[in-house]
Amino acid sequence: MRDLFDRIYKNKGPLGMWASQAEGYFVFPKLEGPISNRMKFKGKEVITWSINDYLGLSNLSEVREIDFKAAYDYGSAYPMGARMMSGHTDLHEKLENELAQFVEKESAYLLNFGYQGILSTIDALVGKNDVIVYDVDSHACIVDGVRLHIGKRFTYKHNDILSLEKNLIRASKIIEQTGGGILVISEGVFGMRGEQGCLKEICELKKKFNFRFLVDDAHGFGTLGKTGAGTGFEQGIQNEIDVYFATFAKSMASTGAFIASEKEVIDYLKYNMRSQMFAKSLQTQLVIGALKRLSILKSRPELKNKLWENVLMLQNGLKNNGFNIGNTQSCVTPVYLEGSIPEAMSLVKDLRENFGVFCSIVVYPVIPKGLILLRLIPTATHTKEDINETLDAFSKIRERLKRGVYKLKTKVK
Ligand SMILES: Cc1ncc(COP(=O)(O)O)c(C=O)c1O
Repeated sequence: MRDLFDRIYKNKGPLGMWASQAEGYFVFPKLEGPISNRMKFKGKEVITWSINDYLGLSNLSEVREIDFKAAYDYGSAYPMGARMMSGHTDLHEKLENELAQFVEKESAYLLNFGYQGILSTIDALVGKNDVIVYDVDSHACIVDGVRLHIGKRFTYKHNDILSLEKNLIRASKIIEQTGGGILVISEGVFGMRGEQGCLKEICELKKKFNFRFLVDDAHGFGTLGKTGAGTGFEQGIQNEIDVYFATFAKSMASTGAFIASEKEVIDYLKYNMRSQMFAKSLQTQLVIGALKRLSILKSRPELKNKLWENVLMLQNGLKNNGFNIGNTQSCVTPVYLEGSIPEAMSLVKDLRENFGVFCSIVVYPVIPKGLILLRLIPTATHTKEDINETLDAFSKIRERLKRGVYKLKTKVK
């Protein structure tokens, strides 16, 4: 008889198979010191371009003070139990009201984590007769939410309106038979390559097809739109988004998330999102922390202005130096280079060890074979020196890559 673990002992999975070469360096690296533009990696200072603390809220003194006081007043246990049973408070409701007002929806509901939250949002929004049509490049949490759906689901090509239309025609035929409805899902900003979702064009299709639209705006919330209320405002179609989602894990520099929609839909979701109904309530210390962060996000536009000053300086600097940064329309800054996976590993090692630049690296199968994607996340806390040093480092590593320096094997310490 086979042991269940035999498969696990033999095959560590698509990422796990690289663990012996990559762990602690390319994956599960340990960045040390206070969250900021410069942290420590393996004992050396590095410019950090891999942290989604867009507005630099994580270490603002007033944020740290509130976090400290809330932790002192409430501890990490409070409130005990799920919202539905014993974990509901006025503070949770206050934050929900403020979030709903900010993103201009009737109602909002807090989620413990974005991932589980959106997964259950999708699960609760659709029944077996409904059809989901979603962007093929969607974040794993959307993919997993769609996996729970027992009815039909179709992907459309990334940001391709013709492909979406084709799939909406297929979906419409199905719902004619089943009597269900259609849910379309896109991200506000695609976090890997930085393109905004074609939200405006998708909403245009509402004239032709009957569907509801869910937007995951993890990277747009706090960074886009005049007030920072997200990609829907940036594109002038916030009122056409039927269910809006954002996490606190990025611009809000915390943990937790929320969905916002019309009141009746939120009331329904609150009674039907299983990962929220049967899980402990968001800690009060996090709720108080989020109230403070939201008030700063709303009242200190200079943070978003500084963020965008840095984004433009970095992105223009890269473009002027001849780098391919794709079609980013957000703070997410991808840099595409050509090379093999071993070359990518040596190059990143060089960047970190010799140039003190820490960014994420993405290779095949996430992007096509032969491409290396270095992903930089500018924040409001980066300085001109950080950007200039990084631009200089990138020019040097590109030159080394072209000369074939990274073809020689380098061992990761
Ligand atoms: C697009 C997107 N959606 C959802 C999530 C999940 O959010 P959370 O970290 O709050 O679970 C993330 C990652 O943080 C994300 O990038």
